[in-house]
Amino acid sequence: MARTPPPPRAVLFDAYGTLFDVYSVGLLAEQLFPGRGEALAQLWRDKQIDYTRLLTMAGRYQPFWQLTRAGLRFAAQRLALALSPQAEDQLMNQYRHLSAFPENHAVLLELRRRGITAGILSNGDPDMLAVATKSAGFDGLLQHVISVHGVQRFKTDPAAYALGPQTLDLPARDILFVSSNGWDAIGATWHGYTTLWVNRAGTPLEQLGTEPTHTGTSLRAVLDFFPGPAAASVSVSVPDPV
Ligand code: LAC
Repeated sequence: MARTPPPPRAVLFDAYGTLFDVYSVGLLAEQLFPGRGEALAQLWRDKQIDYTRLLTMAGRYQPFWQLTRAGLRFAAQRLALALSPQAEDQLMNQYRHLSAFPENHAVLLELRRRGITAGILSNGDPDMLAVATKSAGFDGLLQHVISVHGVQRFKTDPAAYALGPQTLDLPARDILFVSSNGWDAIGATWHGYTTLWVNRAGTPLEQLGTEPTHTGTSLRAVLDFFPGPAAASVSVSVPDPV
């Protein structure tokens, strides 16, 4: 009989795309470039990730913030948009303070209430992650903010994923790695993590012959892995009818 694996002992979240909505810059992009905002946000993100892979494969490194700016410049040129230094600064500033997905704060709060160790494992550099977590109101909700900056190799490089088990002092399979980026969920699965792909957008599975351990549609799915104490009962006093 197949044995049920033990529940994970900690959770690590991907940051960009999972905790923070990278496409929330689309609104400002649309104001700056009417009719092209969505295309710019999409190509910007694709190019940013493309650059992480290009550098890591060549054994080179530039911080994620720098690649984010480089991705924006490329995307604007590719779409023939005149990106003024002022517009570039506005968009980069927006990227620094990305919106969190609506359910995320409540999920992190509930994990803390249940006493679960939670953290981030991200391509973002430490400064970016510090500002993003603070501006999303996640201060005090994440015990670890792990950046690949320490190893100067981006996900899906094994050295990047190895930072999780090293930092938490737990085997990868005991850590639930949560990402909305399908490729990241697959990379973490290859590394031995128990994975949850939060596929908010209904994106197809990467066709590489590997599936994440679990799939969900919102960050709330994380809570199913960490059953907690029952919510404190709330007593409501109802005034007597007159
Ligand atoms: C990160 C990238 C994948 O936060 O968005 O690591």
